[in-house]
Parts: sequence; C-alpha cells; structure tokens
Amino acid sequence: MKTSLQLLFLLFAGSSIADDLFSPSVNIMAEIEKWKTMEERIQRLEETLTKVLSENEALKTLVSDSQYNLQSLQQQNEAKKVAFSAGLLASGEGHTGPTDKQKTLVYKKVFSNVGNAYDSNTGVFKAPVKGVYYFRFYGHSHSGITMAVSLMKNGATMCSVHDWKPQGNGNTSNGIVLILEPGDEIDTRLWKGSRVYDDPASYTSFSGFLIFPL
Ligand SMILES: *[C@@H]1O[C@H](CO)[C@@H](O)[C@H](O)[C@H]1NC(C)=O
Repeated sequence: MKTSLQLLFLLFAGSSIADDLFSPSVNIMAEIEKWKTMEERIQRLEETLTKVLSENEALKTLVSDSQYNLQSLQQQNEAKKVAFSAGLLASGEGHTGPTDKQKTLVYKKVFSNVGNAYDSNTGVFKAPVKGVYYFRFYGHSHSGITMAVSLMKNGATMCSVHDWKPQGNGNTSNGIVLILEPGDEIDTRLWKGSRVYDDPASYTSFSGFLIFPL
C-alpha cells in the first residue's frame, strides 16, 4: 500500500512541481488538505448532480402522467355531454302500427343528438357513461285504435302510456329518471295491436338526457 504522500511524490517526480513541493516555501500538509477538500467537494457535486438528474426524470414522468390524466379527463368530460330529441316521422304524416307484435318505435326526425347515444336507425338509446338519466316520450293517436307505448330498459318495461280506443284523438306522455350503466339500452315500444300517429308537428316524440354522471 502506498501512502497518499508517496503517490503525490510519484505523480510529481521529475517535474518542477516536485522540486517546488520540497522547497521550504510549500506547506505539503496544507496542499494535501486542499486536495482532500477539493475531492470531497467534487464528490458532493457528483452526488448533487445524480440527485438532480433523478429528480429531473421523476419530473418528466410526472409531467407525462399529468398530460395523460388531463387527456382522459377531457375525454370523460366529452362523454358526459348527452342529450337527444327526435320526432317519429322525418316527414309527412300517418299512423305507425298496428302490428301483430311489440315494435320498437324508430324516431327519424332528429332534433338534437349530442354525444350520438341515440341511434335513429334502430330507435335505441345506449348509455355512454354511468349516470342518472331522464327520458320522456309523447304519443299522439287518431280515433278508434288503442295507443299504448312503453319505455324499456334492456327489454324490461319501465313506464308506459295507454289510451284505449280514443274518441277523436288522444295525447299521452310519461317520463322517468333512471340510473344507467354504460351500455344499458333504452327504447320505446308500441304494444301489439296498437298504433300512434305523427305529422310534421311531431306529436309523437322521444327525448332523453344525462342529468349527471355517477
Ligand atoms: C291532443 O293534442 C292536440 C294538439 O295539441 C289537440 O289538437 C287535441 O285536441 C288533443 N286531443 C285531446 C283529446 O285533447
């Protein structure tokens, strides 16, 4: 094992520094002390740098996580905008029904469909997010034949309207607040043997909206 002093000597051997070291004006112990201090400072700097670099990595991760969270929050917020209204006939006038079995009413005149949760090809509304929803439907009919419509959740009756063989014409409506899971389906169905009437004034219509998500 070589001592620090021997190493120093080897380092400076043959150089003029070596001569200086042994000249009476140079305090070797003080020089060694200075070197030690310097080495300690470099070590501390290295430690600090390592710490700063790892903090920087952590910050980068934090920023990218935050960006991801913000994006998914924005997407969630978009999904929370749900509202639609549609009248039964896109144009003209006439009866729908009676049919020999229950039939989903397909409302063709779309007034609004924010979030595209209502499908005007099938008449089915599909909940995009879990939440509390409100639905309302109106039925109008012309004389003689019963008008009966039910609002269904995943095929099960929730609420209904009924007008038995109206004299002249009939107007009915019902509404309901429902807690829906994503993917739950709502539609309105004409009962077997009944009918509704519609014309450009859209007496027969279906509306719904998300009151608030859960
Ligand atoms: C149903 O509503 C229409 C349109 O408002 C109205 O003309 C009609 O008289 C109503 N029918 C009944 C039976 O009240």
